[in-house]
Amino acid sequence: MFEFLTGPMFWLSISIFIIGMITRFVTYFRGLHWQLDRVAYRAFPLQGLKGAWRSIYRWLLPFGTHGWRKQPFMTVIFFGFHIGAVLVPLFLLAHNMLLKDKIGVSLFTLNPTVADVLTWAVVVSAVLLALRRVGLPEVRILTTSYDYFILLLSAAPFVTGLLARYEVGSYSFWLILHILCGEALLIAAPFTKLSHIVLFFASRAQLGMDYGIKRGGMQGKGMAW
Ligand code: HEM
Ligand code: HEM
Repeated sequence: MFEFLTGPMFWLSISIFIIGMITRFVTYFRGLHWQLDRVAYRAFPLQGLKGAWRSIYRWLLPFGTHGWRKQPFMTVIFFGFHIGAVLVPLFLLAHNMLLKDKIGVSLFTLNPTVADVLTWAVVVSAVLLALRRVGLPEVRILTTSYDYFILLLSAAPFVTGLLARYEVGSYSFWLILHILCGEALLIAAPFTKLSHIVLFFASRAQLGMDYGIKRGGMQGKGMAW
């Protein structure tokens, strides 16, 4: 089972993830309608790129936007979840040993204690994100079982990774389950809301360009429309 999951299934899931995410990113921009979406990006590329960078950077900065500042509780649990969710899968020592074995390269690796702390933060924040959906009426009315499913799918590799790491009961059971959950997440990502891992950058770039060019960014600079 281990051989199969770290062999053919590893290649399959990682390929679906990479090809699927690139496809989602490209089709996002190709799907924009130059009239409906008021695309003026090509006409003013510099102002557009400045606006895009500003929007992405501000959103990735804790408390960097009005939205983040207005909801401090959400901001803390959002970043508590996302810092680990992005850094641990990429830079965990165990993952990089696997990468080295598979493709002969490895990335920068996290100190094991830092990886543990970030992983715990992901699990605790995921519980709080779920409670927020239950507790706040304005979020609850927008929530369906699909949102809980995505949260569960996202948290599963972290919970099972921890259970394997602390060797709770059978190490190999949790490790196999961990790899299954990790690969399920990779395969599901391009087809679900998890595609936001790349589409966040696409939509922030689009809106940032809009603000940088048309919605005030070039006010008074003699733009024709
Ligand atoms: C650079 C990569 C990523 C960016 C920029 C990003 C950004 C975001 C943003 C902006 C939201 C919406 C927050 C809101 O409701 O206002 C969100 C939600 C979410 N993200 Fe990500 N994300 C990234 C990676 C990931 C990864 C790797 C995972 C899973 C392992 C993940 C799982 C989630 C989940 C489950 C939610 C919904 C939380 C909830 O139920 O409220 N994200 N993300
Ligand atoms: C693609 C297949 C994957 C394989 C083969 C794999 C393999 C492993 C291995 C061997 C460990 C070490 C367990 C130990 O301590 O002995 C581990 C830990 C872990 N993995 Fe994965 N993993 C995969 C996918 C993922 C994904 C997609 C995520 C997150 C989105 C993830 C998150 C974690 C976490 C949080 C830990 C525990 C970190 C800690 O030590 O505190 N893994 N993984």
